[in-house]
Amino acid sequence: MPRPKVVNDKRQPVPPLNLEELKFWLRIMEEHAQFIKAGLPCDSIVLIGEADNFQQEFAALRVRAEQVQNQRQFTELVDATQTVVGEFYRYKRRLLQMELTCQLLGCNFALFLDHVSREAEYFLMLLSAMGSGRLLYQSAGAREVTFWLRLMADHSRFIVHRLDPSERAMVETAEGFACEFDALYLQGRDFVSMLRGSTNEVPAFRRFLQDVRVSTLKLRDFKRAVESLIAECRLVGLIPALLADHVRREADHFLLVLAILEKGTFVPYDEDGELEFAALEETAVMAAGGAVAVAAAELAQNPAVVYYDDEDEDDDEEYGGRDDEDNDGEDEEDGEREDAPLPTTPPPPEPPAKPAKVKWSGKWPRPLGAQK
Ligand SMILES: [Fe+2]
Repeated sequence: MPRPKVVNDKRQPVPPLNLEELKFWLRIMEEHAQFIKAGLPCDSIVLIGEADNFQQEFAALRVRAEQVQNQRQFTELVDATQTVVGEFYRYKRRLLQMELTCQLLGCNFALFLDHVSREAEYFLMLLSAMGSGRLLYQSAGAREVTFWLRLMADHSRFIVHRLDPSERAMVETAEGFACEFDALYLQGRDFVSMLRGSTNEVPAFRRFLQDVRVSTLKLRDFKRAVESLIAECRLVGLIPALLADHVRREADHFLLVLAILEKGTFVPYDEDGELEFAALEETAVMAAGGAVAVAAAELAQNPAVVYYDDEDEDDDEEYGGRDDEDNDGEDEEDGEREDAPLPTTPPPPEPPAKPAKVKWSGKWPRPLGAQK
């Protein structure tokens, strides 16, 4: 199927989810369960058992994700994922409330529990957006950036608090990143407010995205250095190697999101005047009430958000579903596709050799969903 031509006009949506992104977030959720379990008091048997169950459920969903062959299976997977993520979100918030009211100790900081619950909310928002056909626009893009900037600031502080105090230089570097991302987060919030109702391209916002990318590249490289030092047993601290890898992967994912925004696959406003990302809180409330469900019919009418290259998952195809060259979000209207193969992106004419290391060169830093 030839890719629809990109027309960079004012109604280019950002496809919110695809199978590769689903896999990315399923792994993140599985690891959250593992981290939470490791940080619970050893006598909290029930809570540990719940975390263990979530870890197993996400592991099973990841296995299912690798076996998806058609739209119907993908729809069922999204449905099952929403249920588990909704329950996991409530579990995280319950732990947070217990900790804030001194009913729970352990090693999970309250901000860590809040952080991982925010990520679950975000994942629910993506799943819900795909199910309902809602799309993200630039006003939401500014919100998306602030969401990720806050995560990056959190990561910096988590690193600070898990480094041995004797590692003064590393602590100072991590604190510098925390301050840098706090400032960017505040600037991003200003843009969220200032871009409301904006109907024009805003050069200052584009420059802001470039600033954010430069800072995020530095942070990603720092996380990678921390990861390597831990792997080589050359860093004193309490950072598990998996956690270092986890936060580095999230920084890489943020770089993908930034690249999408910088490529201009968004419009400066939502014609309904809504800030789409505001739906995040509604999504969480819905999840808390157990009301999140995917409407299969709606999903079937919006299959273009799913991209799956079943020929070679590890090739260097550019980022699957958010790539503006892949989709304009409006090129599929056929609802009779429950058992149809997932839409596939054609392989590039001459796939470039897999780069030895991640390097920013205007292309994606890595294929979405790649594990390393
Ligand atoms: Fe995170």
